[in-house]
Parts: sequence; structure tokens; C-alpha cells
Amino acid sequence: MKIGILTSGGDCPGINATIRGVCKTAINHYGMEVYGIHNGFRGLLDGNIEQLTDHSLTGLLNMGGTILGTSREKPFKRKGSSEDKPTILLNTIHERQLDCIVCIGGNGTQKTAAKLMQAGVNVVSIPKTIDNDVWGTDMSFGFDSAVTIASDAIDRLHSTASSHQRVMVIEVMGHKAGWIALYSGMAGGGDIILLPELPFDIHRIGDTIISRLKKGKPYSIVVVAEGIATPDGKKPAQYIAEEIEYETGFETRETVLGYIQRGGAPTPFDRNLATRMGGFATELISKGQFGKMVALQGNSIGAVDLSEVAGKLKLVTEDHDLLVQGRRMGICFG
Ligand code: F6P
Repeated sequence: MKIGILTSGGDCPGINATIRGVCKTAINHYGMEVYGIHNGFRGLLDGNIEQLTDHSLTGLLNMGGTILGTSREKPFKRKGSSEDKPTILLNTIHERQLDCIVCIGGNGTQKTAAKLMQAGVNVVSIPKTIDNDVWGTDMSFGFDSAVTIASDAIDRLHSTASSHQRVMVIEVMGHKAGWIALYSGMAGGGDIILLPELPFDIHRIGDTIISRLKKGKPYSIVVVAEGIATPDGKKPAQYIAEEIEYETGFETRETVLGYIQRGGAPTPFDRNLATRMGGFATELISKGQFGKMVALQGNSIGAVDLSEVAGKLKLVTEDHDLLVQGRRMGICFG
């Protein structure tokens, strides 16, 4: 059996560990051939494909990024393209005699993978994103690494905030979801945590900062998700920092953490999640169970139908236990 494997969308820690998990299991356990498709779905358009061997899979477990390269190519989006990309892509798969394509990616990739499946290709996908917003899996690899990096950054802001008696606003990634802000904000001891899923009131944020001052805490840490709504699309951290300074008179500084959250080595948790998910994807292929996305379900690895995942977003809900607990402890969520 010949498997093609690609990574698509924004990179994140743990992709290489997943490639390793899929390919080593396929080669060593099932005796399959594995072909790396370069730069996401674009590799299927320009035929940028090479065979991967056990030797080429060495040293990947803790390596950041993706050895296959990635792109945000969406071959089934016809708008703005003169080429018949679906036909080119299907021809490549046929010519290279690939029996299955493993698609590692976030929400956009799951959508494209579902379309590839509808076009008659055997597909198995694996959720990958720091944002943790892929529907159908309790967690995606990359999330724990991003939360670890963001929590460390928040920890470091505490000492400078208290030394200078300032308000520190830190903006973290997460796209339209507040998972990174919620988890890193709680782990980093944020006083105010703003999520795209919840509306905020700047007066209440100001009151929280002033009431902390009255309790002898003349500094505050505000964790802001990049996806919060701001007037006229203003930059979240900058907007919140300006409003806080205006509202409270407190000296306020902002930090935008950015791509650091996506780079570098995965945490041990993500390495193992990636390895388990990669292995399970290969198991699905060996059983001929296509059209599935591998998922973490509680503590077990399972699968969900790709058709169910495509087009959905997993967002933080009001009843999430970490949010409920945060509120009970007096943390302001807006
Ligand atoms: O999906 C991961 C992510 O890092 C988001 O958190 C962020 O909004 C987006 O990608 C940034 O995308 P790009 O790599 O295209 O700048």
C-alpha cells in the first residue's frame, strides 16, 4: 500500500512527531510505502512528492515546524483560479498510485480533506492546531505547547508588572477561539482574561483593576485572545491597554506574543499525543477505514467522520469547568 502524507495550514509544535508516528508505524509495522507531499495540497498540484524512508524520519520527535513544509493552498476553492486544480490534484494521486492521503491540519485542512474524500480519494486526517478549535477532538497537538509558552510569558510579566506597579496586557493567539487565552491565562494567574466567546465591559475591567489596588495589589495581568471584538478592528492588546489607561489612570503596557507560540519543540504531552494520533491514523488505513479524522476522546484515541467535522468550530462555552472555576475565584472574564 502507498500512503501520501501532507501538512497544511499554520505550522505548530508536534507536526514532525506526527509524521514520524504515521510513517514509522506504516513502514515498520505494516510494511507500507510512504510518500511525503511537500507544502500542503500545493505538492499535489506541482508533483512535489518524495518517498520517505525510516532513515529520513530520524530526529523528528522534538523538532518544531514541519519537514514537509506547509501552505494554505485550498485546491477546491475555484474562485480566482484559472486552473482546474481538483483535476490536476486527482491526476497526481492517480499517477503516483497513492492509495490514501493522510492530511495533517487544522479546520481549513479538515474541510479540504472532506472535499478530497467526496472526490473519491481515500483520506484519513489528523487535527493539528495550537488554537485547539477543531471540532470532534478533545484536544489537538500543538495546543499544550502553545499554552506552555504563553503561560511562561505570563509568569515573566508578573515580576515586571509588580516591580513597576503597572497593568500588563498580553495578547495570545487562538484565531476565533479563546482556548489559549483561557488555559494560559488560568495557568499563568491572569487577573482578567478576555475571550472572543464572551462580551466584555471596559468599565468592569477598570473596576477590577481598581479594586485590586484597594486590596493592596497595585498591578494586574490582563490576558487577551487575539480574536476578541474591538471597535473598527483595532489591535486587541493595544485597544485594551489604551482603554485601561484611560479608565483607571494606571500605567499600562502591552505585549503581543505572536508566532513564538507556534515555534520550537513540542512539549512531552504533545509529542506523545502526536505519536498516538499518528499511529492510530495508520491503523485506520490498514483496516480500510477512510473518511475519518483521528480524535482524542477523553484519554483514548478514536476517530470521527470527516463529514461531521468539516465547517465546524470548537469554541469555549460558558459551562467549561476552567472558566466556571476562574469566575468562582474572582477572575474577571470581561
Ligand atoms: O491557526 C494558528 C494561528 O497561529 C492562529 O492562532 C493565528 O490567528 C493564525 O494561525 C495566523 O496565521 P498566519 O500564519 O497565516 O499568519
